Amino acid sequence: MKGVTGGIAVIGATSGIARAVAERLAAEGEDLILMGRDGAALAEQAEGLHKAGGRKPACMIWDVLDHAGHAGKFRELAAAHALKGVFLAAGIQFPQDECDGDAAKTRLTFDTNLTGPAIILDLFAAHFREKKGGFISCVSSVAGERGRGKVLAYAASKAGLTAYLDGLRHRLAGTGVLVQTIKPGFVRTRMTAGLRSGLTAEPERVARDIVAALRAGREEIYTPWFWKWIMLIIKAIPSPIFRKLKF
Ligand SMILES: NC(=O)c1ccc[n+]([C@@H]2O[C@H](COP(=O)([O-])OP(=O)(O)OC[C@H]3O[C@@H](n4cnc5c(N)ncnc54)[C@H](OP(=O)(O)O)[C@@H]3O)[C@@H](O)[C@H]2O)c1
Repeated sequence: MKGVTGGIAVIGATSGIARAVAERLAAEGEDLILMGRDGAALAEQAEGLHKAGGRKPACMIWDVLDHAGHAGKFRELAAAHALKGVFLAAGIQFPQDECDGDAAKTRLTFDTNLTGPAIILDLFAAHFREKKGGFISCVSSVAGERGRGKVLAYAASKAGLTAYLDGLRHRLAGTGVLVQTIKPGFVRTRMTAGLRSGLTAEPERVARDIVAALRAGREEIYTPWFWKWIMLIIKAIPSPIFRKLKF
């Protein structure tokens, strides 16, 4: 982002996608604040980025599920660091049959993928709006593009997140703040362990797209690019046929 200075907060920094994004940003000389719920993993990651030639990132525990604590955490973060952007990648996915009839898992899915990010990004939005610049980049998913029986709760949580980001972008129009929605297809990370698909991308490939989109100030991207066309077709399938495909 041109003209805006400060560090980039990476929330869910230990995720496969965020790790690859952090490596790229650190290699480009950015100051990072790695945030997540596993302090030891964050410290190890920070050390690795430093050894690879980047500036040593700061680390901070931030549990996306601690909804009551987000405002306090944000104050702590903003008091310690000048900020120019946030990249939020925290997310979970249970197999839908584990959510079926399990209120706790369904709730955890929404609390992690939607409620937490909405509360957190609201805080960043107010901060950047006042500063008249900054960026909010958040990983949603192609799964949020259509209701899906096979991944019912996950897809709905990502649909909500995509809508939230869309609304935030409208609200912040003209303020100098970029709100970016990232919609990956399948990516090889812990979340997709065991998934076999010829369409699965490596996190580094996705990170390259994300950082390029950030530099270009793009509001929404599909990554890899071909998911835009896949989703165009998927969204056009009439419901009676879509149902039979059992996606
Ligand atoms: N992989 C894909 O195919 C794919 C496709 C589309 C979208 N996405 C989205 O991409 C994002 C990154 O996922 P990934 O594929 O990189 O998966 P991942 O490697 O499993 O990463 C998930 C991340 O979320 C963090 N997290 C979960 N609950 C948290 C909480 N309560 N507080 C803080 N952090 C929490 C995890 O932290 P811990 O390390 O502490 O567990 C981990 O860093 C997610 O939002 C996911 O939905 C992934």
